[in-house]
Amino acid sequence: MRGRFITFEGGEGAGKSTQISFLAAALERLGISVVQTREPGGSPGAEEVRALLVKGEAGRWDGISETLLLFAARRNHLQTVIRPALERGAWVLCDRFNDSTLAYQGYGRGLDPDWLAGLYQAVSEGLEPDLTLYLDVPVEVGLARAGRRGDDENRFEGLADAFHLKIRSGFQAIVRANPQRCATIDGMGSVDEIRRVILETVTSRLMGPGR
Ligand code: TYD
Repeated sequence: MRGRFITFEGGEGAGKSTQISFLAAALERLGISVVQTREPGGSPGAEEVRALLVKGEAGRWDGISETLLLFAARRNHLQTVIRPALERGAWVLCDRFNDSTLAYQGYGRGLDPDWLAGLYQAVSEGLEPDLTLYLDVPVEVGLARAGRRGDDENRFEGLADAFHLKIRSGFQAIVRANPQRCATIDGMGSVDEIRRVILETVTSRLMGPGR
């Protein structure tokens, strides 16, 4: 049986990576084989593209170049990691995916959503996540958390607060437009509370009767 494809989305510092690890461990305890991955990146080729995207000056790429790099990386990731894992029955947990492109390059940078949707269709050949968990936190909280990490992958974190506000309302609009696929998780709860809500959401959406 084909595995399930779960994506985690959110702004900077939403707490996705901690929660992905918790969910992976919980699924593995149920005997499910799990592949944990991320975008941009997730495969050797796409990780090379990631370095181009997340490092350096904010103005290094314009929106269109940035988007084409993201989709080149996404196609390689889908072909070499995501599809093969799903086909062998593993569940794929991905830290960011196409909704980040809609939020950052679409709502944030103002690129045409129909152009983005067409590129996604071409690159994905119709594969959609089974479930998208959107971790919602206020922009100032997320940026403060992300700032504390002190890594050198901060090309996007350095953009103005107004950009991050657009991204948050973009994610919220994406969830409203795709209620079957997406669920909002309140990222302001305790780590344990969020872990519990995510497990309940995955259980009810993907493991209920008839699934
Ligand atoms: P990531 O390392 O996942 O950041 P975080 O730790 O905050 O989750 O992603 C790097 C940056 O890339 C992040 O600022 C968001 C941005 N990004 C896009 O702009 N578009 C995309 O399609 C993706 C996947 C990420």
